[in-house]
Amino acid sequence: MKPDVKIITQISPDQSVICILGNNTIPVNLSLSKSEMEYARKKLSEKEEYVFINSYFKCTYLVRIKDDLPEFRQKEELRKTAFSLRKLIKSNCHNELVITSHKAFKGAIESFTEGLILSFYSFEKYKTNEEKNDNKHYPEKLFLNGVINDADLKWLVETTDAVYLTRDMINDPPNHLNASALAKEITRMGKIAGFSVDVLNKGKIEALKMGGLLAVNRGSVDPPVFCIMEWNPANKANSKPIVLVGKGVIYDTGGLNIKTGDFMAYMKTDMAGAATVAGVIYSAAKTSVPLHIIGLVPVTDNRPGGNAYTQGDVLTMHNKTTVEVCNTDAEGRLILADAISYAGNYNPELIIDIATLTGSAAMTFGNKAIAIMGNAERKYFSLLEECGMDVFERVAELPFWDEYGELLKSDIADIKNVGGREAGAITAGKFLESFTEFPMIHLDIAGTGTLKKDDFYRSKEGPGSGLRLLATFLKKLSTQYQDKNR
Ligand code: BES
Ligand code: MG
Ligand code: ZN
Repeated sequence: MKPDVKIITQISPDQSVICILGNNTIPVNLSLSKSEMEYARKKLSEKEEYVFINSYFKCTYLVRIKDDLPEFRQKEELRKTAFSLRKLIKSNCHNELVITSHKAFKGAIESFTEGLILSFYSFEKYKTNEEKNDNKHYPEKLFLNGVINDADLKWLVETTDAVYLTRDMINDPPNHLNASALAKEITRMGKIAGFSVDVLNKGKIEALKMGGLLAVNRGSVDPPVFCIMEWNPANKANSKPIVLVGKGVIYDTGGLNIKTGDFMAYMKTDMAGAATVAGVIYSAAKTSVPLHIIGLVPVTDNRPGGNAYTQGDVLTMHNKTTVEVCNTDAEGRLILADAISYAGNYNPELIIDIATLTGSAAMTFGNKAIAIMGNAERKYFSLLEECGMDVFERVAELPFWDEYGELLKSDIADIKNVGGREAGAITAGKFLESFTEFPMIHLDIAGTGTLKKDDFYRSKEGPGSGLRLLATFLKKLSTQYQDKNR
């Protein structure tokens, strides 16, 4: 269960407290005894990450800020310390816990609390009774005290809510969350947050001639869906929308080019991009970000059954381009291409797609960076880079030279869906680029979007990679526009 978070202005002496300390100094108002203070000072001088004091009637956790690091790193260290503290916190069975700070930078309380909330997550939907109680000992209420205002709190609560919802969708296995169930969940999120959701069924997808999405779907029993989300507030600061596109492969078997060995493990997370787009728009709507934002998610599974599409097939895509299928496991780009082409209907300022697209991106950056590439103006890249550092979902850029696109030349069609083993993440991006005339940025989260084990507060399987990055990017972009329009 996600804790409730509120701001309080006064701490009473019997409340258990986490205090984040800047400059290695301990405030006097924590109601610690003289010997407890001495113990704490000693531990802090030994550069302990945190100090725990169990007084008779309450607990105190002192968390040290690593003052020698740049601020974005200090924030990340706080999120990670929160993760390290989660077990100790659980063992103390607090109903409520105060989080405060002393001589800390602005944002320290939020970063720590964000790390803590994200660390409390676990996917328990299918655990029966006793085991289901695994997390019941986490505090139900967190009280924040100090340099934080209502807007900061709202942002923290809504973005972490969005991450929880997104993780739940990614972690739900395909026998429970198929294409139509995912569309239903996105529709439900739209109702809660106040953005519109239009779900196109197979008939509409056929009428739109989305040849990529339909081809990938041919081997599966469940029909595809195409979800259109829209957040269009009256006070929007942009005249042309930002379109977000997310890969929604419910399960990627590879199709007839079936995945072997371990490669099929975790392929339920192949709709992480779609879930993230839904989460980003949810958070933007909940926090009233003044931007016109569209979300497009093509959804299907990729299976070898029935009339599955084959290597050698030539597809006619939504924009009439013909594609030679060289590998049915390069399915993500086929469904994304139709969505990116469809995005053109909105005359977008910018298209950003997010996808667990290539093993190549995962091999290049591991789980440490989201691969970013594209042809949009540099200002968007700079802002994404800045936001990536801030929320510690860092992006690392790959070159996007035309020569890479030439690797996709086909003998029998306009383009083929695989460019060969070399530069696989880049040729996948080039494939997508060829389906639009509008500025685009491609985010490949194959490395960061699927985790075999917890990476601190990034929970295993579907951590929700890219959500905080894009949510923060859109918020900052809207303030840039508002400043300009002023
Ligand atoms: N969904 C996979 C990419 C992936 C791999 C995501 C590992 C997360 C972890 C994608 O559909 C895929 O199969 N890509 C192939 C493309 C190849 C056939 C050109 C790949 O990267 O091997
Ligand atoms: Mg694949
Ligand atoms: Zn895939």
